[in-house]
Amino acid sequence: MVNGPALPKGVLSLHALPADHHEGPWDHIVTPPGLKERLLSQALLTLLHGRRLATLAGLPHGLIVLAGPPGTGKTTLARGLAQRAALAVAPEGATTYLEIDPHAFPSELLGESQRAITRLLRDTIPELAMRRPHTIVLIDEVESFAVARSAASMETNPVDVHRSTDAVLAGIDAIAAELPRVLFLTTTNFLTGVDEAFLSRADLVITFELPDTATIASIIRHSLVELAGLWPELAKLAADEELHARVAERCAGWDGRRVRKLVLAALAQRLDVAMDPGRLEADDLMAATGVPAGAA
Ligand SMILES: Nc1ncnc2c1ncn2[C@@H]1O[C@H](COP(=O)(O)OP(=O)(O)OP(=O)(O)O)[C@@H](O)[C@H]1O
Ligand SMILES: [Mg+2]
Repeated sequence: MVNGPALPKGVLSLHALPADHHEGPWDHIVTPPGLKERLLSQALLTLLHGRRLATLAGLPHGLIVLAGPPGTGKTTLARGLAQRAALAVAPEGATTYLEIDPHAFPSELLGESQRAITRLLRDTIPELAMRRPHTIVLIDEVESFAVARSAASMETNPVDVHRSTDAVLAGIDAIAAELPRVLFLTTTNFLTGVDEAFLSRADLVITFELPDTATIASIIRHSLVELAGLWPELAKLAADEELHARVAERCAGWDGRRVRKLVLAALAQRLDVAMDPGRLEADDLMAATGVPAGAA
């Protein structure tokens, strides 16, 4: 892994996959049935057959967009997908995985961001993509990378927004044609803020929803199972599905991140539990929801 100043501009991190320490995220996220298979299939199609498919009139762009509210598992699932896809294609060779910092290209910097994006997509990514047979690029908050030109506010210079979004589109098109085994995974909270021409290049757009009660209960169970791995006394709480359902009832409308934090907050309701988390009880979980007992 390379980090810090040695990284090219705009690249947050760079890894070779598959790697053991990237196992986890894929299984941590609870999704509707079929979603993970659809995602993995799309990724493998690009990585394994991108070169052949690039000869088609309607060539794939190797672009997946995960959209949805904050804290619904988009980034975590994208990271997990990178590892899972890299594992599946490992017999054909390793995968270079890089995460882009979308804030490295502020659209208000006259011409500067257009040059930086062009350098990233024309030089940096192609150079990295030569190193290994497969490449996966994660762009979080893609709405700041491919700003919707139709919605660009007058505060930013519209000409610059146009130029930098044009540079993104041209770069993606060039990579799709010349380096068809590069896969872009992108996430956004604001689908409407992402440029329409960018979205129309996506091979798959998945919209995440806030978790329903059953999903919330699964997240609670998963968090407790993890805790029971650290404090085996908690195995009983982790197995109590009736409790998970009861707590989940009180968390309607919460996002997944908040549900994860609920379990942490439960550990901090009482001093003796904070000192010895093995003493966590059902009431601590109920108390952490902030809804008084009997009110829900
Ligand atoms: N469906 C889910 N199942 C299990 N855990 C979840 C789920 N959704 C979110 N989480 C948990 O919430 C936390 C935040 O997830 P993540 O950062 O991937 O969300 P995000 O959608 O990328 O959010 P943002 O839009 O704010 O960047 C993680 O710890 C993750 O495990
Ligand atoms: Mg995210």
